[in-house]
Amino acid sequence: MPDNTMDKIVSLCKRRGFVFPSSEIYGGLNSCWDYGPLGVELKRNIQDFWWKSMTLREDVVGLDASILMHPRVWEASGHVASFTDPLVDCKQCKARFREDDLSAEKIEKKQCPNCGTLGSLTESRKFNLMFKTFMGPVEEAASTTYLRPETAQGIYVNYLNVQNVSRLKIPFGIAQVGKAFRNEITPGNFIFRTREFEQMEMQYFVKPGDDEKWFDYWKEQRLAYYLKLGIRPEKLRFKQHGQDELAHYAKAAYDVQYEFPFGWQELEGIHNRTDFDLKRHQEASGKSLLYFDDAANEKYLPYIIETSAGLNRTMLTVLVDAYWEDKENERVVLRLHPRLAPIKAVICPLVKKDGLPEVARQIEADLRPHFPVIFDQQSSIGKRYYRQDEAGTPFGVTVDHQTLEDQTVTLRERDSQQQDRMPISALKDEIRKRLNADWSVSK
Ligand code: GAP
Repeated sequence: MPDNTMDKIVSLCKRRGFVFPSSEIYGGLNSCWDYGPLGVELKRNIQDFWWKSMTLREDVVGLDASILMHPRVWEASGHVASFTDPLVDCKQCKARFREDDLSAEKIEKKQCPNCGTLGSLTESRKFNLMFKTFMGPVEEAASTTYLRPETAQGIYVNYLNVQNVSRLKIPFGIAQVGKAFRNEITPGNFIFRTREFEQMEMQYFVKPGDDEKWFDYWKEQRLAYYLKLGIRPEKLRFKQHGQDELAHYAKAAYDVQYEFPFGWQELEGIHNRTDFDLKRHQEASGKSLLYFDDAANEKYLPYIIETSAGLNRTMLTVLVDAYWEDKENERVVLRLHPRLAPIKAVICPLVKKDGLPEVARQIEADLRPHFPVIFDQQSSIGKRYYRQDEAGTPFGVTVDHQTLEDQTVTLRERDSQQQDRMPISALKDEIRKRLNADWSVSK
């Protein structure tokens, strides 16, 4: 049986307003996606979780660098020369492939995996993944610039600015979240690989010689982070890059991988970039990027340990990991970590009369300043709960006739469906307590 989980998730995302195809009324644009009301909240909650995990540390501060940078940044960083994938074309059906995605047999026979024609594949050529554009009104080589393919370089060229103003001493880190662009040959698997995406990157500056210690440290930190995000441990693993797989800037690299329905794939890269980038920028700009270590009374170029995660890819991971078909109760549940859930609670009057909607509306108004909640009085209470289960809403508050007598409501928990009766006045604190509680679930 083919695994159709991805199809179900794509359909749920469209139906519930997590993710829509971009420019849909024009037939969509390959690999481009728009984030709807629930998607934008989920993405933002993931970003906040990452941002806090980095910048609530005393040794990490934030930055937001521009997407367009001086073109010489990309020459110095090696991206103009080396940020390439091997591209092969099929002369028959015109399909394009990354050569490193093809089996040895197909390469040997030059056989197209799409139309099957033998001998139809071209020799591979290097295809640069950077998107080019022009600064200003004249489209000429001198005005060529690039959409950044990684956010990291904005941190490197700013590192001394940041260090000076923040008075940080090595070891310290700079965190950034922002858009990156890659003209991928084979985008796909929904929001897994797209040409426009967001990265959450942290560059940690260390003394040369201490780099391996910090590399190991960040590897462990990053795995712990995914567990805190509520991802099942058995679906996570490290994959070490072999010498032939290392990016042009890396001395050592590990991927955090997740087991998606389409196989184990990279979720985040952890790289020991040495002083490669700073050295190249120092040479190309002619500006000293040396750090003065007053404790050791010496100047040096720091080594950099990078943790680089995809925001959209993390969102896909969270969705895939949370997707649960509860066969017993015939419902679909997104078992999102309550902290990540776009809506925290649905407020439901049991019936649309007897003054229950008015009480429910008041509860909604009282809770709304504290966390996102919605009011729902359409259809049966069971259907309303199930609608929210599918959207990942962790709590349901029901106002019934007893509420009118004793000012209590029921608080329903999404995964266990357990209901607790409590005073309306206790709701806010109880929901907040549960949102902040350690959360794990046997999925
Ligand atoms: N600065 C280092 C760097 O960019 P990378 O391994 O090329 O390293 C880091 O990318 C992360 O960015 C990946 O693990 C992935 O989560 C995300 N990413 C990379 N390319 C992507 C794409 N085309 N679509 C979505 N996410 C992507």
